[in-house]
Amino acid sequence: MSNNVKDKQKMKAIIYTEYGPPEVLKLAEVDKPVPKKNEVLIRIYATTLGYGELVARNFRKVSPGKFAMPLLFWLIAKISFGIRKPRNKILGSQFSGQIEAVGEDVTPELWKVGDQVFGYTSSSMKTYAEYITLPDDGILSLKPSSINFEEAAVLPYGGIMALTLLRDKVDLQPGQKILINGASGSIGSATVQLAKSQFGANVTGVCGTSRLEFVKSLGADHVIDYNKEDFTESGETYDIVFGGLVRTSFSKIKNSLNPNGRYVLTSFKMRQVGQMLRTKLFGNKKVNCVLLPETGEDLREVAKLIEEGKLKAYIDKSFPFEQMAEAHRYVEDGHHKGHVVITLDQ
Ligand SMILES: NC(=O)c1ccc[n+]([C@@H]2O[C@H](COP(=O)([O-])OP(=O)(O)OC[C@H]3O[C@@H](n4cnc5c(N)ncnc54)[C@H](OP(=O)(O)O)[C@@H]3O)[C@@H](O)[C@H]2O)c1
Repeated sequence: MSNNVKDKQKMKAIIYTEYGPPEVLKLAEVDKPVPKKNEVLIRIYATTLGYGELVARNFRKVSPGKFAMPLLFWLIAKISFGIRKPRNKILGSQFSGQIEAVGEDVTPELWKVGDQVFGYTSSSMKTYAEYITLPDDGILSLKPSSINFEEAAVLPYGGIMALTLLRDKVDLQPGQKILINGASGSIGSATVQLAKSQFGANVTGVCGTSRLEFVKSLGADHVIDYNKEDFTESGETYDIVFGGLVRTSFSKIKNSLNPNGRYVLTSFKMRQVGQMLRTKLFGNKKVNCVLLPETGEDLREVAKLIEEGKLKAYIDKSFPFEQMAEAHRYVEDGHHKGHVVITLDQ
């Protein structure tokens, strides 16, 4: 055996080697990653799960029709996740933890051993593990001191999406009226909070019956239960309607938009892209299909908003690392009313 192989250290990870239900997630020993010259090694203390993990875990069952984005995006996901079985065996995209080692090219002004951090690995995943390596310019920030590791692990994705949506794509102004579909979801719950606390908008959140109280607690001025009320028939109008996972037809949404109002979609098909192009040329009410950027700079902006108390975690339930499958089952069955966190030994 070569020294290299003999010296390889191991770590615990939750892996999946086939697509399927939560039970495909298994505890295993895998090689501990070694940071390259420009990378940091992070010991993970908490991670979480959301829409991305659920979709990736069972991607074989996700047809182009069920996928929330156009066919081309589904094809790209199919190839990058793996066609018959998962190519990347470790899921998980958000984490908090502590830097344990830094590569020789990483300057102490950027990161040093002992820094408490939180971050997002996007489609690269791999946070369902004791350790992860990240490039020094990755989506990484110092953890706000005002929150603990559990809270820090559940905020990066929703925080970045909500901030870039409202600041860069919507340019939300104080006093504007915004309706947020999927207000209880990862993006929606952060969007409700920031629309109110940072942008000073008048916020209406739409969600299911069991999550109305949760969405109220996020700071929404009004809440609508989509099981009981169709907001497009209420006569109320908004400057912005955010689609969330829902794609109500633009002909219906028009009734709910003020003159110059916009229907903003992060989940869309080619039909909505066509509507965006048409409404760009004709009419004053617009459809905007947006792709949201993900950068370390934005996460560090999110960290400031957390320090200022403008964005909070609402932990519904915590699971130990070994119970990852139970955590996936809990979220997939729709029991959660807030964030679900997975904890590792500190
Ligand atoms: N464009 C981009 O750059 C970009 C980036 C990231 C993600 N995305 C997209 O964002 C989506 C994932 O968002 P997420 O992570 O926030 O998902 P999520 O956490 O699963 O939340 C989805 C929410 O949709 C709500 N919902 C379901 N049916 C509804 C209805 N009929 N009316 C109103 N709300 C309804 C659910 O509310 P209840 O639980 O109350 O039923 C749930 O809270 C995906 O489509 C993904 O493709 C796009």
